[in-house]
Amino acid sequence: MVDSLKKPGFEEIRPGVKVPAKETILTPRFYTTDFDAVAEMDISPNEDELQAILEEFRVDYNRHHFVRTTEFEQSWDHIDGETRQLFIEFLERSCTAEFSGFLLYKELARKLKDKNPVLAECFSLMSRDEARHAGFLNKAMSDFNLQLDLGFLTKSRSYTFFKPKFIFYATYLSEKIGYWRYITIYRHLEAHPEDRIYPIFRFFENWCQDENRHGDFFDAMMRSQPQILNDWKAKLWCRFFLLSVFATMYLNDIQRSGFYKALGLDAREYDIHVINKTNESTAKVFPVVLDVENPIFYQRLDQCVQNNAKLTAIVSANTPKFVQFFQKLPYYTSNAWQLLQLYFMKPIEAAPLQGTAR
Ligand SMILES: [Fe+2]
Ligand SMILES: [Fe+2]
Repeated sequence: MVDSLKKPGFEEIRPGVKVPAKETILTPRFYTTDFDAVAEMDISPNEDELQAILEEFRVDYNRHHFVRTTEFEQSWDHIDGETRQLFIEFLERSCTAEFSGFLLYKELARKLKDKNPVLAECFSLMSRDEARHAGFLNKAMSDFNLQLDLGFLTKSRSYTFFKPKFIFYATYLSEKIGYWRYITIYRHLEAHPEDRIYPIFRFFENWCQDENRHGDFFDAMMRSQPQILNDWKAKLWCRFFLLSVFATMYLNDIQRSGFYKALGLDAREYDIHVINKTNESTAKVFPVVLDVENPIFYQRLDQCVQNNAKLTAIVSANTPKFVQFFQKLPYYTSNAWQLLQLYFMKPIEAAPLQGTAR
C-alpha cells in the first residue's frame, strides 16, 4: 500500500529505474543530423558574434550552481497521489528533453572537432550545460524513488533525422521556449513562495540563463547562414516549426494542468504567456512569426484540447479496437483541420520588427 503510494502506477526496468515513457507524437524527441554539412558551414559572415558567445560559454557562469542543497534532504512522500504522478512525469519529460540536447550537442562537438573548432567548442560547452540539467533532474527523480537509466534511453530511443537548417529552427525554438518556461515558473514562485512545494524550482533562475545563451547561439548560427532565413521556403518552415512547438506544448501542458495547479499556476494562462513571449523573442531572428494575439489562434488550439480529451475517453473505454477506430476518426480529422487552419493563418512579417540587421 505504502509502496504503491510512493510509486504511483509506474513500471520499472529494475528496482528504482523507471521504464521510459512511451514515445508518442507529443513526447520529447531525439535528433540526429548531417554532421558533415554542419562541419563544412562557413561561419565567417557572423564569426565575431559566435566567438563572443563562445567566450561567454567558457566563463561558465553556472559552474557552481547545480549543487543539491540540504533542502532536498527530506521525505517527499507528502507529495502523493495524482500530484506525485504528474510531478514525476514533469521531471522525466524535462530530463529527457535536456538529455536529448546533451546527446545532439555532444555528437556535433565530436564530429566537428577537427573541421570547425569554434562551433565544436560551442557545442561541447552546451552539452556540458545540458548534462548538468539532465543530471540534476534525474537526481530529483530519485527523491521520488525513481530514476531514468540514461544509457538505456540513449540506446532504446529512435532518432529523428533533420537537415541542419531544421535542427537550427527546432533547437533555437526549444532553447527559447525552455528559457520562457523556466523563468515564468521561477517568477511566479518568487511572488508566491508558499507554492514552491519542491526546491528544484529555486534553481530555475540561473538555469534558464543557460537556455537563453544556447538560444542566442542558434540565433547567431542562423545569421551566419542567411540563406536559411531569407527566402520563401524559410518562411514556410519557420511557421511549421513554430506551430509544432507551440501546439505540442499546449496540448501536453493542458493535459497535465494538475501539475501547474499544484504550483498555483493555471496551465492555460501559463502556456499562453510562454507562447506569446517565445513568439516575440523569435521575431528577432525568424523572417515570420505566428499571429498568436489573434483570439482564433487559441480557440483552435482549445478545440484540439477538447478533441484529445474525447480521444483519451474513447481509448480508455472497453469497446473493440475497430469500433474505437471509427469513433476516433472525426476527432483526428478535426485536429488535422484545426492545425491546417492554424498553419495557414496569416503570419506576422518579422523583418520590420528586426530593424537593421545586427
Ligand atoms: Fe538545458
Ligand atoms: Fe539548452
